Amino acid sequence: MASPLRPQDVDLSTTLADCHLGNPVMTASCCAAAGRELHQFFDVADLGAVVTKSIMRDPRSGRPTPRMAETPSGMLNSIGLQGPGIDAFLAKDLPWLLQHDARPIVSIAGSSLGEYAELARRVGNTPGVAAVEVNISCPNVENRGLVFACDPLQASRVLAVVRRETPRGIPVFAKLSPDVTSIVEIADSVMQAGADGVVMINTLLGLAVDLDRMRPLLGGVTGGLSGPAVRPVAVRAVWQVAEAMPDVPIIGVGGVRTGRDALELIAAGATAVQVGTAIFNDPRAPVRVVRELREELAARGLAKVSEAVGLAHRGITIETTEESST
Ligand SMILES: Cc1cc2nc3c(=O)[nH]c(=O)nc-3n(C[C@H](O)[C@H](O)[C@H](O)COP(=O)(O)O)c2cc1C
Repeated sequence: MASPLRPQDVDLSTTLADCHLGNPVMTASCCAAAGRELHQFFDVADLGAVVTKSIMRDPRSGRPTPRMAETPSGMLNSIGLQGPGIDAFLAKDLPWLLQHDARPIVSIAGSSLGEYAELARRVGNTPGVAAVEVNISCPNVENRGLVFACDPLQASRVLAVVRRETPRGIPVFAKLSPDVTSIVEIADSVMQAGADGVVMINTLLGLAVDLDRMRPLLGGVTGGLSGPAVRPVAVRAVWQVAEAMPDVPIIGVGGVRTGRDALELIAAGATAVQVGTAIFNDPRAPVRVVRELREELAARGLAKVSEAVGLAHRGITIETTEESST
């Protein structure tokens, strides 16, 4: 009988569009700001990539407080894209990541096509950027405040502009919202507009009421729901897009806490995964997920993470050789 596969022998390297990564685990946008906060807990170079908090053109103070509320198996946030603006980001945050050998995927967010164009041009032309992630869950100030991500035409316009302004060798990933009737339709429109892949999912719109004060708990009234509560929604979105468009590179995100959670998204069709909310109660979660993913793959005799991508669509039974650690 063949000897069991050892976790250290599993090949976690992966390729997403033109982006080659040592492993498929990344931080999710925001949950680690620009990565610096995490460095006291682990070496940011040990992650496949660090996705930075969405950066806008101008500095922003975000939405009114309170901005966070705990919910069953999740949390609501209404941070509102607080940030230093692109000048400070390019001057301080990005150089720090590059000096620490991280592979930065820079998330950009705009309130008009012109802003997205400017951000893509400036970020894409900065040496060392591994890819651009386009957060389209923002209201379009030029079009009645409609959220770009909720309309296939608006979403495709943003991706066409960003793709046009970003140098060819830098992949552009569209981050999609689950708050739509058909996420496949939105994925199709952004891919046709030139995106190199999709990231799913951003938070779901939610609201919590403070029953003592009889008003919404968050200062911004509504907030984005994240954490384990949203994982089945993320798995569903990844599954649906992978089923409809098997060749589209997908990054799965939503409620990942363990290597097992990561493997679920990968089996549903994701080539890479991001860890977000879990970082708030375990800052080492992303590197732990790398280690646990290795163990989960080894236990199933999968020598390469690429062999696991989309496996659940093929319905192949895999026996687990060891008790998994998670
Ligand atoms: C506090 C907080 C802030 C976030 N800010 C951003 C952001 O700036 N840009 C973005 O694309 N997604 C943002 N997200 C969404 C996450 O990147 C992720 O898509 C979502 O939280 C689901 O993953 P999780 O359950 O692992 O957190 C934010 C999430 C949280 C919890």
